[in-house]
Amino acid sequence: MSNLSVNFCGVHFNNPFILPSGIITEVKDHVRAIEAGFGGVTLKSLTYERREGNPLPRMWKFDCGMINSVGLRNAGIEKGSEEIAVFLKEHSGKKVPILVSLFATKVKEFLYLVEKIVPLNPSLIELNLSCPNVEDEFGKSLGMEKGASGEIMSEVKKISGKIPVIAKLSPNVANIADIAKTCEANGADGIAAINTLGPGMVIDIVKRKPILGAKKGGMSGPAVLPVAVRCVYEIYDAVKIPILGMGGVMKVEDIIQLIMAGATLIGVGTATYYKGMKVIEELKSALLKYMEGNKVKDLKELVGVAHN
Ligand code: SIN
Repeated sequence: MSNLSVNFCGVHFNNPFILPSGIITEVKDHVRAIEAGFGGVTLKSLTYERREGNPLPRMWKFDCGMINSVGLRNAGIEKGSEEIAVFLKEHSGKKVPILVSLFATKVKEFLYLVEKIVPLNPSLIELNLSCPNVEDEFGKSLGMEKGASGEIMSEVKKISGKIPVIAKLSPNVANIADIAKTCEANGADGIAAINTLGPGMVIDIVKRKPILGAKKGGMSGPAVLPVAVRCVYEIYDAVKIPILGMGGVMKVEDIIQLIMAGATLIGVGTATYYKGMKVIEELKSALLKYMEGNKVKDLKELVGVAHN
């Protein structure tokens, strides 16, 4: 009998599907994701200050995907960590690991965020080193090059205790594998890849101006899957730590591609916008059917097989 459970960084997941941090910002939607059967849920990236987010509209569907510029809308670490404490208390019995995502552009700020989160004991901490939708006061380049990523990871690992720390990386760099390797060398327990592609732009040809309030935004959805597969493949070649692969997953074949490239866990974000949270039950059944049809008992038999 095939089973969907997965071990990632020493944490048990009932199935490999993770709601990524990104377009979903409200706690009620994280609760819906747990109820819908996700294996794990990542909360919206928290920053030092509260952020209102970028001007509306923040998301737009185009023919082959979605473009977003949410602008890290979140309550900020003080209020956000209180909300997380309540959330973790209410959901800890449901055996769905919760990943807390953090974003900063200065090492000092990252350390402050991590210090506030560690006592809450989430299942994992994700360092978002890759949001494409931040403004210049944040200094875009942090996390886009290996020196800064390595320094952040090494400092964070000194204070994160037993909580595994993963780095979420951007595809919008010259060499994502190099950055993953540096994160691993500085203590990262895992890598999440990819954040959105771009930034891109969609123009309203009637109004004759860009559709998104922030004009530009990161692309997700089916169009980015081949980039995600390539990035996961290159990272798998470069590191030994496990990979949470994401980007454009809509159907079981997409999941299998990412796993064969090297992913252990699979992020499913934009598909919930297209099909609702029920997509997760569809993906779970389709994945089990694939495993049974191909005599795969455990997903780890497939991880990275495209490299053989
Ligand atoms: C955003 O808040 O703009 C999207 C999140 C991200 O790309 O990290």
